[in-house]
Amino acid sequence: MTTPQTPSEREGAERIAKFLARAGIASRRASEEIVAAGRVSVNGEVVTSPGTKIVAGTDEVRLDGAVVEPPAELVYLMLNKPMGVMTTLDDPQGRPTVADYIPPGMPRVFPVGRLDYTTTGLLLLTNDGELAQLMMHPRHHVPKLYYAVVDGIPDAGDLTQLRKGVLLDDGLTSPAGARVVQVRERTAAVELTLREGRKRQVRRMLSAIGHPVIALSRIEYGPLTLGDLPEGAVRLLEPHEVEALRASASGGV
Ligand code: URA
Repeated sequence: MTTPQTPSEREGAERIAKFLARAGIASRRASEEIVAAGRVSVNGEVVTSPGTKIVAGTDEVRLDGAVVEPPAELVYLMLNKPMGVMTTLDDPQGRPTVADYIPPGMPRVFPVGRLDYTTTGLLLLTNDGELAQLMMHPRHHVPKLYYAVVDGIPDAGDLTQLRKGVLLDDGLTSPAGARVVQVRERTAAVELTLREGRKRQVRRMLSAIGHPVIALSRIEYGPLTLGDLPEGAVRLLEPHEVEALRASASGGV
């Protein structure tokens, strides 16, 4: 008599939470909770055990009744987001969005994090849901380097405040890197490295110390560097950049 093959013994089987995370539904841990809540079915049967294993492409997985499918091909793009572009794929008000910059024929990719409408610079777009979840996880603390042109010239005390923490209406900011890299008559260029990502954080920090932002660009995101990619241009990440991203994502959470 042969033992029937259990789902966990099938070739290419993976845990349901990993599958959901790969599809960009939520982090692995949050996906386990989604499963435990009874929102996921496999081949028509609701499953609640986080130990459930499935085979992508063979089993039909549904979340709240909708079929879930992780992407077949993973794509990673770097965009130098221009000013006046929304970091969304669709804008109800009809403003330009980052979707306008995705080359035709690409799989559907999503922005990882966001930049303000008027901020330019490095934006990662991918269909790798799991990596995106890891990079955006608040505990992950991905370092982000911003180049800000500010009104006035911050002094040593201002820089100390930026480094130690600035009191904003949503609390004290975490320690940051801050240095003045260029001084003009009435403006200065400041580089700020943040490891948290609150809404309009750079603008609010610099306003709070009396040096409002005139122009803001993100020039590094984790291991990625914008380099000389022109505004509005988009490129695929190099394999070594994808490796570096994966290494940095797996190290943080
Ligand atoms: N901080 C800001 O204030 N704006 C951005 O777009 C990103 C970081």
